[in-house]
Amino acid sequence: MFYTIVGTQWGDEGKGKIVDWLSSKADYVARFQGGNNAGHTIKVNKNVYKLNLLPSGIIRNKKCLIGNGVVLDPWALINEITKLRDQNLIIDKDNLFIAENVCLILPVHKLIDEINELSLGNNLIGTTKKGIGPAYEDKVGRRAIRLCDLLDHQNLKNKIKNLYEFHNPRLTRFNKHLDFENTYEELIKIASQITNFIAPVWKIINDAGKEKKFILFEGAQGSLLDIDFGTYPFVTSSNTSSGQIFSGTGFGIKENHNVLGITKAYTTRVGSGPFITELDNEIGDHLVEKGQEFGTVTKRKRRCGWFDAILVGQSIAINGITDVVLTKLDVLDELEEIKVCIGYEADQMKYNHLPFNESLQSKLLPIYKTIPGWQTSTFGLTNWDDLPEKAKEYINFLESKIDKKISIISTGPDRAHTIDRNNLLGNN
Ligand code: GDP
Ligand code: IMO
Ligand code: MG
Repeated sequence: MFYTIVGTQWGDEGKGKIVDWLSSKADYVARFQGGNNAGHTIKVNKNVYKLNLLPSGIIRNKKCLIGNGVVLDPWALINEITKLRDQNLIIDKDNLFIAENVCLILPVHKLIDEINELSLGNNLIGTTKKGIGPAYEDKVGRRAIRLCDLLDHQNLKNKIKNLYEFHNPRLTRFNKHLDFENTYEELIKIASQITNFIAPVWKIINDAGKEKKFILFEGAQGSLLDIDFGTYPFVTSSNTSSGQIFSGTGFGIKENHNVLGITKAYTTRVGSGPFITELDNEIGDHLVEKGQEFGTVTKRKRRCGWFDAILVGQSIAINGITDVVLTKLDVLDELEEIKVCIGYEADQMKYNHLPFNESLQSKLLPIYKTIPGWQTSTFGLTNWDDLPEKAKEYINFLESKIDKKISIISTGPDRAHTIDRNNLLGNN
């Protein structure tokens, strides 16, 4: 059984919580793109775990794979492992496997990320400044340092030298300079802590597939941040959609594949870029407070707005989503009425998809359908029948607009706060 979990909005939909919930059944959990720009929060009773690079299956001591599609900051990985071990999690060679061809994020990438943002001025992307974009640029530019390079120190030194020679002229224009020897020495100091986990991930995952193991692919970010299909240029630098699992891990098996689209009951976004249903008012403030919408990675306040059925519908198509998981329903509990965007209009034209042209995007106004709120607590509910009728009507309305079954509903941050309408956990 293969499940891919992807975000259908601009990230932070609650992917980590659902991966953890579903991974009770999993044998393997694999990351296939992104890096430590991701922040996945998992709550188990009184324990809260915050994961950036490690697959969320690590909480349940599942076999965790970091595929070649990820960009990996070695120092960030070591910090994360240390932090999680302090929370009594086991992380060792038996449960963590990192692709030898994964590309590394080095100090130069973080610096370039900062410089890029500075030079964009008011048009900045609002990146996490983790060096993600510059690291992917070097990968495509065929000059990246890969994990396997840490095994050959002399070659490594030359490669870092070439990389820094490539970047230093631009850094100099911003009065910055990085010394390759320094990065080389720092990297050598920690290399063995990471090379320890090197593995042929593509082989492990295909063997697991042949043995009919339960494999979970954990997406980071969301489809609206996808480098091709997102709100470009206000996107991340990887393909965040489900198609990336194949090139991001080397998994070649395509049958028995389920794709869960994790979808917040409203919409949030961190960083710049278009957001047609954004609420710059007291309802938006209420969603920030009630939903605790502050970034896990950068602590920035997340922008909040109404559910956009057009965008979620696009994500469902692009990802081949088989079931939608609706999260944070409880955050809407107190609202008198709730709006859902069912189309856009601009210059007397109506749109049922988001056109890519940026100036047109900025003119689009939402067409809303207003639904009565339920104004009673759904927090922590675990049965569909216990939901207030009006909450069921909201969910039914969303299903009709996105044309997809909402099979799982999350009513709180804890793994137990989950309504499993089709008994997914019970049936597998
Ligand atoms: P991810 O990046 O998609 O994994 O999501 P984040 O972890 O960045 O953000 C989701 C936040 O919402 C986390 O703090 C979760 O603990 C929390 N959360 C997840 N599901 C629910 C839910 O159904 N209700 C509430 N109130 N919080 C939730
Ligand atoms: P998870 O996995 C929300 C956003 C950044 C910025 C843009 C580009 O927790 O859902 P980057 O550093 O990737 O170059 O930044 O993408 N972004 C996220 N927003 N959740 C995330 O991950 C994000 N990862 C990146 O805020 O707008
Ligand atoms: Mg997050």
